Amino acid sequence: MRYILAEDYEEGSRKTADLIEGVIRENQKALLGLATGDTPRGTYKYLREDFFEGKVDFSEVRTINLDEYVGLPGNHCQSFAYFMHRELFSKVNIRPENIMLIDGEGDPEAEAERYDSFLKENTIDLQLLGIGENGHIGFNEPEAYFTANTHLTELAEGTIRANSRFFKDISEVPKRAVTMGVSGIINAKKIVMAAYGHKKAPAIKRLLCDDKIYPEFPCSILKACRDVTLITDRELYELIKDSCPADVCLVKSGP
Ligand code: F6R
Repeated sequence: MRYILAEDYEEGSRKTADLIEGVIRENQKALLGLATGDTPRGTYKYLREDFFEGKVDFSEVRTINLDEYVGLPGNHCQSFAYFMHRELFSKVNIRPENIMLIDGEGDPEAEAERYDSFLKENTIDLQLLGIGENGHIGFNEPEAYFTANTHLTELAEGTIRANSRFFKDISEVPKRAVTMGVSGIINAKKIVMAAYGHKKAPAIKRLLCDDKIYPEFPCSILKACRDVTLITDRELYELIKDSCPADVCLVKSGP
């Protein structure tokens, strides 16, 4: 696992955007695996700005998103589809037919099958990840096992609580989601996971403190992947630096 220490959220977002743009520069038809939430918001801002300044071209780029709440239509302001259109897709020259999103109102099983048949034929060039406070990636929540394929999942209580900040009331947060499984994520050629702030420090500390892989701590599966870059801000780093034998999983520091 490569580690990039950024001073703050802005710098981390800038560096994440640079990594994504590097992949697009190498392959105009790159398939990007995208996440939603506060973590990638800054990255999408830099991608929008760089597009506006002519530094990156999305005309051939393809995307696939990690997950979607069950029951929310794509035009619901808290759906992940809406988030992606607002933060990125409507601001750059990506073609609508190159965007793969889960339909929150579709049949979950059919949506999962559609995703998996796409993933069988296509390899994600770069998968962008945030991390849940409980270690979830996508909506692969802590369980006694990993689920390889795209699937319907019940959101963990902590996830519902954390995501209630985006809703008027916690009762409005959907309890279920369709998520890409771990197979879709770990088969990406490159994975970039970003984590910022003190709330994510315990999860990153746990991730880095040994080389064990536990389904009860889903992000630990990333230890089995060849090309993973972890980006954190200094606030988080200061909270973990004394307790992590960083050499266990971090093979190299710096950009
Ligand atoms: C979102 C996703 C989730 C988030 C995670 C962190 O598509 O798959 O795993 O990345 O819940 O969310 P934020 O970035 O809002 O802290």
